[in-house]
Amino acid sequence: MKKLIIINGPNLNLLGKREPNIYGSLSFTEFLEKVRAKYSNISIDHFQSNIEGEIIDKLQEVGFSYDGIILNAAAYTHTSVGIGDAVKAIESPVIEVHISNTFSREDFRHQSFISPNAKGVIIGFGLESYELGIQSLMHD
Ligand code: DQA
Repeated sequence: MKKLIIINGPNLNLLGKREPNIYGSLSFTEFLEKVRAKYSNISIDHFQSNIEGEIIDKLQEVGFSYDGIILNAAAYTHTSVGIGDAVKAIESPVIEVHISNTFSREDFRHQSFISPNAKGVIIGFGLESYELGIQSLMHD
């Protein structure tokens, strides 16, 4: 069975409550339940942290054994050389995802330290961005 993990960065624990006009009103737990049921032939772990170093630790922990990582580093996308370096250091393919279209928002969201080292980038499809990430890794 393929083993994937979704890693979510800061404030994504508030999905459903946080700026629902941008991020929607579904909680990540509800979304994950649906996705796990739909893709029952693959294992989909989930990790969320508001702490940069914990995200780096998790990338290092899973990055040499998992079949793929779906990473929404949230605000750290635009600031973290450390997370960018971790993505470069590991072997598992990383798909960078964003719920909102970061390019239609403030200029500071146009920069990503993840993209140069990601296998691919999926931006702006709401929570479906995660599902598209899963699909892309399933066919690897
Ligand atoms: C986000 C976009 C980031 O700019 C923002 O800081 C987030 C969420 C997204 O999924 O749209 O927290 O990564």
